[in-house]
Amino acid sequence: MGRPLRLGIAGLGVVGGGLLTALAQAGPRLQGRFVIAGVSGRDSSLARTVDISPFPWFDDARALAARPEIDVFIELIGGAVGPAKQAVEAALRQGKAVITANKALLAEHGHALLQLCERHGGSLAFEAAVAGGVPVIGGLREGLAGARIDRVSAILNGTSNFILSTMEAQSLDFAAALALAQAKGFAEADPIMDVSGADSRHKLAILCGLAFHCLPDPGSIRMAGIERVTPLDIASARRLGFRIKPVARLERRGARIEASVGPALLPLTHPLAHVDGALNAVLVDAAPIGRLTFSGPGAGAGPTACAVLADLINLLDGAQRPAFGVGAAQLTSVLPVASNAAGRHYLRVQVMDRPGTLAAVSHELGAMGVSIDSFHQDAFSQQRASVPIFLTTQLCQLEALDAAIAAIARLSSTLEPPLSLPIAFDSTPSPEEG
Ligand SMILES: NC(=O)c1ccc[n+]([C@@H]2O[C@H](COP(=O)([O-])OP(=O)(O)OC[C@H]3O[C@@H](n4cnc5c(N)ncnc54)[C@H](OP(=O)(O)O)[C@@H]3O)[C@@H](O)[C@H]2O)c1
Repeated sequence: MGRPLRLGIAGLGVVGGGLLTALAQAGPRLQGRFVIAGVSGRDSSLARTVDISPFPWFDDARALAARPEIDVFIELIGGAVGPAKQAVEAALRQGKAVITANKALLAEHGHALLQLCERHGGSLAFEAAVAGGVPVIGGLREGLAGARIDRVSAILNGTSNFILSTMEAQSLDFAAALALAQAKGFAEADPIMDVSGADSRHKLAILCGLAFHCLPDPGSIRMAGIERVTPLDIASARRLGFRIKPVARLERRGARIEASVGPALLPLTHPLAHVDGALNAVLVDAAPIGRLTFSGPGAGAGPTACAVLADLINLLDGAQRPAFGVGAAQLTSVLPVASNAAGRHYLRVQVMDRPGTLAAVSHELGAMGVSIDSFHQDAFSQQRASVPIFLTTQLCQLEALDAAIAAIARLSSTLEPPLSLPIAFDSTPSPEEG
């Protein structure tokens, strides 16, 4: 056994605190193989869940990252720019090993970091960055290294999943379910990254890098938030045999990839329809293996620390691999997007209750070649000035639907922009079934 690796840990919050606790209880694969040579946070005087007094303190994470005595820099600060990025770059420029849980940094700057890493002979590991404690990074990169991945379907944001599950279970509206998520510690004071889909989009970009060797600009992935989903939508979906879940999807379509993040209707028979609360799950359809399911806690001190330890043990065992399974030169950044995929959709249109309204809505859909599969208007809503109408479409092109929705939004009887949600996996068999 060589000398112990000297760790520099920057960020001592949920994940950093969890890591220090886990390191203090290190099992046989870690014992005697590391020393904590420095820690960094914003404020050394803050009360913490773990005693950091034995460790040298650094006000500046960049200075810690660049210290010659540090072998492994562990970045648990967060954010795509600022100190996290600068500190990781400083460590990679010196050829050090970097472990990070920072999906925003990887999704926004992964390609440049990988190049830096290769140029200077360092390494970059990030098991904690997607689905927290669920070992999906290693699963895709190592376990499925020899497979052809066709589809990744996932629930990657525990906050959104908790909110939608709670709205359904307790008949709450979005604001009340969000408040509950915040009270239980499942949502930040500013929940925008989670509920808008931006957090899932970062994670999906990383999974795309691993599954298809394409680490795209996250902005090229179609994204929708869960904020506009109402209890009426959830009940309406249920009546049709679906549940609404925050779904992240990647699918190979010939030479193109369909990529999207947002609330979607899932048939009750689909495995993701039953992943509730704050859990994460990732389903991978690959040849010649078939379907694999990864599921578990996607956040929290313990699960995330566990993923960081896995990266550390890989390093100690000399088992680190190219971060995305291939070198920077083979990792493309341009997503060959399949933007006009065909699918079925659910629509809710809030309209004035007056004659001819439904005809006008169906006219706009028909004009774009979108056929209605089912229609429902809540009996209790009748006789009111404003009523929601619920529709499902037959298979249609996304661009045609978007155009029809824009036209419906312009109708004088339409009171707010229509809500459109994809109906996922209802007719497409998985590759091994098809
Ligand atoms: N929370 C999770 O369950 C989870 C799961 C997976 C991945 N992640 C990722 O893990 C990372 C950390 O998340 P977290 O939840 O642990 O965040 P957090 O609780 O907010 O902790 C952030 C830490 O960074 C420190 N920090 C902020 N600015 C700094 C600076 N300029 N220099 C040095 N330290 C600085 C803070 O210092 P002070 O303590 O002194 O204020 C704090 O200790 C993020 O990239 C996040 O996306 C989190």
